[in-house]
Amino acid sequence: MCHNCAASAVTASRRSFARFLAVGAGLTVLTACTPGAPEAAAPSSAPPSSSPVPSPTAAGTPVAAPEAATVAGTPPEPSASPSPSAALPRQFSLTDPASPWVVVNKHRPLAPADYAPADLVSPAVGISASGESALLNSTTAAAAEAMFAAAARDGVVMVLASGYRSYATQVSTYNGYVAARGQADADTASARPGYSEHQTGWSFDIADGGGACAFQPCFAEQPAAVWAKANAHRFGFVVRYPWMFHETTGYYYEPWHLRYIGVEAATDMSARGIVTLEEYFGVGAAPGYP
Ligand code: DAL
Ligand code: ZN
Repeated sequence: MCHNCAASAVTASRRSFARFLAVGAGLTVLTACTPGAPEAAAPSSAPPSSSPVPSPTAAGTPVAAPEAATVAGTPPEPSASPSPSAALPRQFSLTDPASPWVVVNKHRPLAPADYAPADLVSPAVGISASGESALLNSTTAAAAEAMFAAAARDGVVMVLASGYRSYATQVSTYNGYVAARGQADADTASARPGYSEHQTGWSFDIADGGGACAFQPCFAEQPAAVWAKANAHRFGFVVRYPWMFHETTGYYYEPWHLRYIGVEAATDMSARGIVTLEEYFGVGAAPGYP
């Protein structure tokens, strides 16, 4: 657990709660991806596609050396402090936007800033988004198909409400928030261009079939969010911006925003009770822009 974060979060809770509600309430106005009737096929009951999903090298068998092989030729980063995840091998880059472990936050912009995934696809799931927002990178799409199908088998309707966003789209999105409520408030809910996980294709927002509480705090109580919080790790996802960890992540609770990091890491985080990528990968909190 992030005890230091929890303590400061509790202290901050009272003064931030009213602001938090205001932030959430504005999201339905500002998002270009407000869910409506799903435009695509209903959640598939088919098995996961054959798209390559990063798999653990030896699931359940942590190794002593935390910084083993990487992908994309990017050397692993030294951790600023001992990480609770040290028992897991460092399999993927934390900086390459094509890596499932890339950590993007207010201290860690995308490099290059105009990065675009080379393998964007439209997943075979219920989708309430349109255009590029209906896309994910191929690995995330395959995992999303498996997760949405599992949710459907449990009687939970889940739709893709906002997926990939290009740098240009994030410019429009962020500027919309700034125009509506000013930059300081916008920065608690929307990433600046070049700082959004959505640009990697590893993240997406979910809604339920009817759009109830879409992009609002009350979405946390909707079946899709409850199911995702309990089960997303089994498909390689984490709820990226958890409740009361805005001092670590830089953003208020977004129960709709899921991030793919792979089954092994997501399951390890769940088992250890670690809820932020900042703590898990030992990269330090990013409450604001430098
Ligand atoms: N809402 C998240 C932080 C984003 O804009 O990427
Ligand atoms: Zn999101």
